[in-house]
Amino acid sequence: MDFETFPVLGNSQVVLDRAVVQAWPSLGCEPPVGASVFGFFRALSEVLAAARGPGAPAMVAAVMGHVDYLAAKADCVAAALLNGDPFSTTPQVIIDALANIAALLRAPWPGVAPAGTTGLPAEVESLIIEAEGRLPGWCSRQKAVCLAETVLAERPLVCVEIGIFGGRSLVPVAAALRQNGAGAIYGIEAWSPAVAVENTTNAANDDWWSTVDFDRIKHDFYRFIVDMSLARQVRVIEAPSARAAGLFDTIDFLHIDGSHSVLNAAEDVILYARRVRPGGIVVFDDVNWNSTALARGLLESLCEPVRMLTDVVTGKDMCAVLRRRGGSPTC
Ligand SMILES: C[S@@+](CC[C@H](N)C(=O)[O-])C[C@H]1O[C@@H](n2cnc3c(N)ncnc32)[C@H](O)[C@@H]1O
Repeated sequence: MDFETFPVLGNSQVVLDRAVVQAWPSLGCEPPVGASVFGFFRALSEVLAAARGPGAPAMVAAVMGHVDYLAAKADCVAAALLNGDPFSTTPQVIIDALANIAALLRAPWPGVAPAGTTGLPAEVESLIIEAEGRLPGWCSRQKAVCLAETVLAERPLVCVEIGIFGGRSLVPVAAALRQNGAGAIYGIEAWSPAVAVENTTNAANDDWWSTVDFDRIKHDFYRFIVDMSLARQVRVIEAPSARAAGLFDTIDFLHIDGSHSVLNAAEDVILYARRVRPGGIVVFDDVNWNSTALARGLLESLCEPVRMLTDVVTGKDMCAVLRRRGGSPTC
C-alpha cells in the first residue's frame, strides 16, 4: 500500500494497524499475529459466505455497500478485496470502511433487530440500525443513541444539523422526532466538493473530500428518507451553512458537524450557536481535532457541558453535548 502518496494522521501504518486490530473481533475471532487489512477482507469474505438466517441477506448487502465503496476508491473490484488482494487508497477511507463494517457485524442484523437492545423505543432503534446498514457516514451507534435519547428527553421542535453527508446522524434525530409526534430537523448540506474544501482542514482530509461522489450520497439519502417515511420530519437546505444561518430565529437543538476547518467550524458556532435558545442543546462533533479547538472554545463560552462521548478505545473526547446558557437567543 502506497502510504507515501497519502500522508495522513501522522504515522498512517500504525493507525491503520490499530484499526484492523479493533475491527477484527467483529469477524468472530481474535486478530492473528501480523493481522493486515488485506487479511481482514479475506476473512470477511468467509464470514459473509457463512452468514445464515432471516437477517443475513440484508446484513451482507449492507456490508457489501461499504466494500463496494472502498473498492471504487481503490480503483479495483470488490471481489479482489474479498480475495485478500493488495489494494491502495487513502488510509482514512480504509479506516472508515473497517469501522463501518465492524459496526454492522457487531450490530443485530437489519431486519431482525430485537427491540430493547439500546433502551430506545423499538421504531427509533430499528431506524438507527437500518441507517447504519444503508447510509455512509461517521455516526457511531453510541452517538446515534445519544442523539435520539437527547431528542426524546428534550422534545425540541426546531432542530438543525450542519453537515448531513449520508444522513447517518440526521436519521436518529428524525426518528426521535417522529416518536415525539412533533418537530422537524433542518439539515444543512452543500453536497459539493468545492464547498467541503473551501477552507483547508488538512491535506489528506481535503484530498478525500475533493473526490467524494456527493450525487450518489445525496440520492441514497433522499431514497432512505422516503423509504422510511421520514419526510415529514426532514427539511433539507442545500447550501453552504453560512448562507442558511439567517433562516433561523430560534433553534432548540443544534448539531454542528459540517466543515472541520478552523474557519468554518468557528463560523458555524458564531452563526448558529447564538441562535440556540437558552436551555437548548448543542451537539458538537470531533471536539478533539486541532482544527476544531477554536470553535470548541467559542462554544464553551456560550454553553454548559452536559455530556461527552469518548472513544471507547483511546478514551479521547469525541463528541460534546452542551446546553445553551441564558441570554439573548439571537445575535
Ligand atoms: C463530517 S461530514 C458530516 C457527517 C454526518 N453528520 C455523519 O454523522 O455521518 C461533514 C459534511 O459537511 C458538509 N459541509 C462541509 N462544509 C460545509 C458548508 N460550508 N456548508 C454546508 N455543508 C458543508 C460536507 O459536504 C459533509 O457532507
